[in-house]
Amino acid sequence: ILAQVSTKKGQTFHFGSTYDTFEADQSWSSSIFSTFYRHVVSENGCKWDATEPSQGVSDLTECLACQSFATANGNTFRGHNTFWHSQTPSWLPGSFTAAQVTGTIIPQHVQAEIQGMGTSVTSWDVVNEVVGDGVSNGMTPLQCVQNKGDWPTVTADGSGKALVTDLSFIYAAFNTAFKFAGNSTRLAVNEYNTGGQNAKTACILSLVQNIQQNTGIPFNRLAVGFQSHLSANTGGFDTKQALATTFSTLAAEGVEAMITEMDIELNSNTQANLRYQAAIWGDYLDACLYASNCNEFINWDPRDDLSWRGAAAAATLFDTNGNPKPAAYEVAARLQNY
Ligand code: G3I
Repeated sequence: ILAQVSTKKGQTFHFGSTYDTFEADQSWSSSIFSTFYRHVVSENGCKWDATEPSQGVSDLTECLACQSFATANGNTFRGHNTFWHSQTPSWLPGSFTAAQVTGTIIPQHVQAEIQGMGTSVTSWDVVNEVVGDGVSNGMTPLQCVQNKGDWPTVTADGSGKALVTDLSFIYAAFNTAFKFAGNSTRLAVNEYNTGGQNAKTACILSLVQNIQQNTGIPFNRLAVGFQSHLSANTGGFDTKQALATTFSTLAAEGVEAMITEMDIELNSNTQANLRYQAAIWGDYLDACLYASNCNEFINWDPRDDLSWRGAAAAATLFDTNGNPKPAAYEVAARLQNY
């Protein structure tokens, strides 16, 4: 079942999944990424703990290996991520001041990773999950981010939780990324529980505007990644129409929208639930396919037994034996008929 849509409104539509070199089934991965998935993101190999094991020492081995896997299978590659509060290296929660983090530590890390990975990367999650879960409509970008609270220690006393007094750490990451990324590489803020019209989506939309205003990076280099970790049976997903509204808001500014980590958890692996999952997956794919500014669609974990949500969640496009599920046929049909 071929899924590659080689052109979409004059661009290549990047439909893919995650890969780590320690994936359980390498032979299956190689075959499925040379036919069905055509875009690769490293699930863990490009994160801060893997890429800067000690301060100032860059180690892109795993990230580069994932990029090589993509190239070997004729796939494109996106980077995830240069800043996240999770999977940080053990040395980071040291006794650093906010000025050291913003002035030295973040620029040094972002430069080393983006420069080291080269200019062919289609897009980078420059900052990941910086918006809090307890946000409400009408918040300023700073209030949106302050609600997060999970930051590496940046206070001299090593208190563990730094009060985010301003967004300069985000601007530092984006300014550095813009300086070293390829000219067509999109620079994204990546977030979960976003997409439809809700307070977190409102935050991420105002944050990307704030980043543009405070860095001068043109809107046509910026992107918003909508992770889309969904739950079918509990209504944890948005409608195609709601997504289209958000995507068109971004399109008006020239900002790219991306589905960056799609999976859909099921209560049970019944045929009815699998078909429900397929319908939701098809709607998300159509929302991206038919938006002028959505050209990357990543499915998080290529098959159920490799899913971070556990095999029982049946959250991916392929079952634990590597066979396509109804959702895989659904997206393949929609891609082919686009
Ligand atoms: O590599 C070590 C291995 O050496 C060790 O033996 C093993 C047992 O402790 O752990 C391995 O590291 C694990 C890593 O995945 C690689 O397998 C970590 O424990 C585990 O926590 C980590 O989980 C990843 C998770 O992010 C961490 O928060 C998942 O694979 C990954 O799918 C998940 O992805 C995140 C995105 O990056 C951001 N959005 C949310 C998404 C789901 O949480």
